[in-house]
Amino acid sequence: MSAVCASVDDLRRQAKRYLPRMVFDFVDGGAEREITLRANTADFEPLRFAPRVLTDVSQVDLSTTLLGEQLALPLLIAPMGLCGLVRPEGELALARAARAAGIPFVLSTAASHSLEAVMDAAAGNLWFQLYIFRDREFARSLLQRARAAGYRALVVTVDLTRGGKREKDIHNGFTVPPRFTRRTALDLLRHPAWLWRMAPHRGLTLGNLVGWGGQDSNVIALSTFMNTQIDPSISWADLDWLRAEWDLPLLVKGILHPDDARQAVAAGADGIIVSNHGGRQLDGAPSTISALAGVVDAVSTSADVILDSGVRSGADILKALALGARACMIGKAALYGLGAGGQGGVERVLAILRQELDVAMALTGNHRASAVRSDTLKP
Ligand SMILES: Cc1cc2nc3c(=O)[nH]c(=O)nc-3n(C[C@H](O)[C@H](O)[C@H](O)COP(=O)(O)O)c2cc1C
Repeated sequence: MSAVCASVDDLRRQAKRYLPRMVFDFVDGGAEREITLRANTADFEPLRFAPRVLTDVSQVDLSTTLLGEQLALPLLIAPMGLCGLVRPEGELALARAARAAGIPFVLSTAASHSLEAVMDAAAGNLWFQLYIFRDREFARSLLQRARAAGYRALVVTVDLTRGGKREKDIHNGFTVPPRFTRRTALDLLRHPAWLWRMAPHRGLTLGNLVGWGGQDSNVIALSTFMNTQIDPSISWADLDWLRAEWDLPLLVKGILHPDDARQAVAAGADGIIVSNHGGRQLDGAPSTISALAGVVDAVSTSADVILDSGVRSGADILKALALGARACMIGKAALYGLGAGGQGGVERVLAILRQELDVAMALTGNHRASAVRSDTLKP
């Protein structure tokens, strides 16, 4: 990682150089024409701050509480599958960086490393993300494992009743099963540093799923099987089921509509994650920052609302807090750091966001991240 990394965009550029195109596009790309992917970041831009001066900002407190737990920053690292493709240590590095920064890391069902291995590596504030598979018994066994290992909250992702059509992945042959061509081979050969790091770790897998449905640890077989397990029939009854199965905080990820947020809270959700899966699912869905206020109005008196998708700077975080989010989640930003510099790169991303948030808070006269004023943004 070069010393001059002033922004998340700088780390994105470094990750792009380091990673084979097929891996970078898997991380960076969105569904179809990428309208939602672009809107997620673009829609932060027209929001302008109302700077305030002479408010003695020698003490700015970036910590907050979320679901009753103390966080050093109003930030979480989002669940992401197959992070071991970016660096072999993948989720282990994300979890360690999150722990060092005093924030939660949410481990994906489709992680490369198992939930037990991640807990062993970084026993911090870890949450588990679940996809409700057709095989409910297996979903239940994942909950039991997460509970036994010490995961503190459950995130159920509800916006994947179909796989989004990510055209870059199709062009790159990054499909299930993968399509290897001369072009993909050349792509890999052009990135020797990545190849050299990956070569000793041929055992890339989906750590939580090994052994499921009679599969061994072969990542292609497991991914193929997992795709057959995506359940398009999930409904509110499944949320009731999950609420009965899980007695710790439960959050629903993938909500954009205020009525869905209300219904999730009525079913017992403790938190709502306003998310469009980083623009990877429904192209044409609204950006999350534009959907946030409606969800906050609907449920923020009874549940914590987290803004996910499109966050690339500390100013973005402050804008989301001003619109009523309790915290933000980052996905791609964390993976840019992982690609650029492993755990150190993720720590760098978190340090950049922390510094930018501190500056934006101070210059808008905000003293506490847990109580950002709604007049922080110009009307
Ligand atoms: C490579 C990658 C894999 C992902 N895998 C999952 C997953 O397994 N489960 C999930 O709920 N969301 C997954 N997501 C979505 C993220 O949790 C998050 O919603 C999204 O990245 C947020 O948008 P951002 O990347 O603009 O921050 C994935 C995102 C990326 C980039």
